[in-house]
Amino acid sequence: MKKIVIAIDGHSSCGKSTMAKDLARSIGYVYVDTGAMYRAVTLYAMRNGLYPAEGIKEEALKADIEAGKVQVSFKFNAEAGRPDTYLNGELVETEIRQMEVSNRVSPIAALPFVRTLLTQQQQAMGREKGIVMDGRDIGTAVFPQAELKVFVTASAEVRAQRRYDELRGKAQTQEEADALSFDEILKNVQERDYLDSHRETAPLRQAPDALVLDNSHMTKEEQNAWLLQRYNEAAAS
Ligand code: DC
Repeated sequence: MKKIVIAIDGHSSCGKSTMAKDLARSIGYVYVDTGAMYRAVTLYAMRNGLYPAEGIKEEALKADIEAGKVQVSFKFNAEAGRPDTYLNGELVETEIRQMEVSNRVSPIAALPFVRTLLTQQQQAMGREKGIVMDGRDIGTAVFPQAELKVFVTASAEVRAQRRYDELRGKAQTQEEADALSFDEILKNVQERDYLDSHRETAPLRQAPDALVLDNSHMTKEEQNAWLLQRYNEAAAS
């Protein structure tokens, strides 16, 4: 079978990453979570005073990016079976998944200079093919020639419930678990959908040749089987 590029795009919290990661593992491909890259840049801006309440300090962030001060990389974590995200050599996998980052990542992902940098890095990662990449613009902007494109979606309520369950599962204390609000998470999901689909640069859009997967009523196993089948077809053709 030939090595291909698999682009998985779709709305936030629809289980894209889990599907993409499981597929990559079962077929021996490299998995890249591009959302983690946008989250890491957001964390950098927050930590360095470049993202105050008034808004992003675009010029300063741009200067830091151009000076090579924002390096995002991945290292495979054998125990977790997926790559961990590093920001300037520091493991930030937990920090980038927190609500403060989720709430603030969309404006960072809308900045053209951030997209240009990350798109170039993503294209370099896929040069040898044999890659499963998930995000919002992989099939439209990063790899428009990808041999297999999948657009994943589910209703906002289903996605918010999944995110709520996931965050509750990760909570370290009962207090932390109780502080989570389903309504707040739903609002975050809806806001991100809006911002991701309405930004000027590389908005979330289904590629015309993408296969659509609405997984609102599918189990994880059903999705994995569906995706594996699509991979087998694409790699054999
Ligand atoms: O998939 P995620 O929720 O971790 O993505 C975080 C944010 O990054 C989300 O607001 C959309 C944005 N993003 C993007 O604009 N382009 C990508 N290729 C991946 C993510």
